[in-house]
Amino acid sequence: MSNTAAATRSAEIRLAARPVGEPGPEVFELVRTDVPRPGEGQLLVRNTLMSVDPYMRGRMNDVPSYIPPFELGAALEGSALGVVVESRDASVPVGATVTHFSGWREYAVVDAAYATIADTALAPEEAYLSVLGTTGLTAYAALTRVAPVREGDVVFVSAAAGAVGSVAGQIARKLGASRVIGSAGGPEKTRRLVEDFGYDAAIDYRAGDLEGQLAAAAPEGVDVYLDNVGGDHLRAAIGAMRVGGRIAMVGAISSYNATEPVPGPDNLFQAVAKEITLRGLLVNSYLPLFPEWIGKAAGWLADGSLRSEETVVDGIEQAPAAFLGMMRGANTGKMLVRIGE
Ligand SMILES: NC(=O)c1ccc[n+]([C@@H]2O[C@H](COP(=O)([O-])OP(=O)(O)OC[C@H]3O[C@@H](n4cnc5c(N)ncnc54)[C@H](OP(=O)(O)O)[C@@H]3O)[C@@H](O)[C@H]2O)c1
Repeated sequence: MSNTAAATRSAEIRLAARPVGEPGPEVFELVRTDVPRPGEGQLLVRNTLMSVDPYMRGRMNDVPSYIPPFELGAALEGSALGVVVESRDASVPVGATVTHFSGWREYAVVDAAYATIADTALAPEEAYLSVLGTTGLTAYAALTRVAPVREGDVVFVSAAAGAVGSVAGQIARKLGASRVIGSAGGPEKTRRLVEDFGYDAAIDYRAGDLEGQLAAAAPEGVDVYLDNVGGDHLRAAIGAMRVGGRIAMVGAISSYNATEPVPGPDNLFQAVAKEITLRGLLVNSYLPLFPEWIGKAAGWLADGSLRSEETVVDGIEQAPAAFLGMMRGANTGKMLVRIGE
């Protein structure tokens, strides 16, 4: 335990307004504030990295969902990693690196019970908010539990150059897929899919004719589709699925800024005709898989057979731009923000 007498000054990003449609920088506000002292069982953490994620867009709306909306005028929250500078819990020493859920701020007071010590000798700290964090776990749960890949399967992944997608292609390959196809926006990302992320073929959805490109990449059809995008991608995948195909419904980023209800795919009857399974996934239901996933992934990172990629933006004041950029595809791999260095 250590004692810090003076109050700690910290910058934090608050939600200043609820966006309608695509948000802009005006919905965020940077505020400097005094951080309260940690109470019994709590830690004061100096954050060094934080995550920006698509689901945060949903939390900016004041609507009931699987996770409550962000509060107007309060600091945003999300996954973060930092160093413990004051501890009032015997199980977490000062100097430990921990992950927790009080991102979007320089300093956070967190309950020790909700902080997890990250072993930075095992993997670099960025990995704990990407491949060894919930986005890596999402890819693993999707392809082993929700839409399990079998030996010889053809697998299709959308938003394939992003945090979930860049890991998913590599997992599909390790699970024995015969062909792995990814879609992403633009020629640079599609090149990276094939050269760096284990994909056999890549589709640039911005070039148009998604269905034609998918048919060319998977002439015999698709067995497993990991859907990060919804909309046009889900429709194209349903059309390309083989009999008995499995779809893991992970996200639908194409509709997160929609201001009107989004119609479902108009070819859904093919799920009947081809006996396709569509199954949703919330990563929080798969947190018990973390030891299994980290055990495998840390070994693969160490032997070089799994690539982890992050796009890191510097400075807490850049966190809103990092979030807005990620929603438009500015990231390859996981979008992170480095704080306070
Ligand atoms: N269910 C769960 O528990 C869970 C957990 C984690 C993530 N997710 C979901 O998984 C998806 C990916 O999340 P992530 O964290 O890995 O984000 P990410 O893929 O790293 O970043 C989002 C990416 O979405 C792509 N995108 C944006 N608008 C698009 C559009 N209209 N059509 C196609 N692609 C578009 C962009 O890439 P391009 O440059 O390729 O367009 C962007 O880089 C999201 O839908 C997210 O909500 C769900």
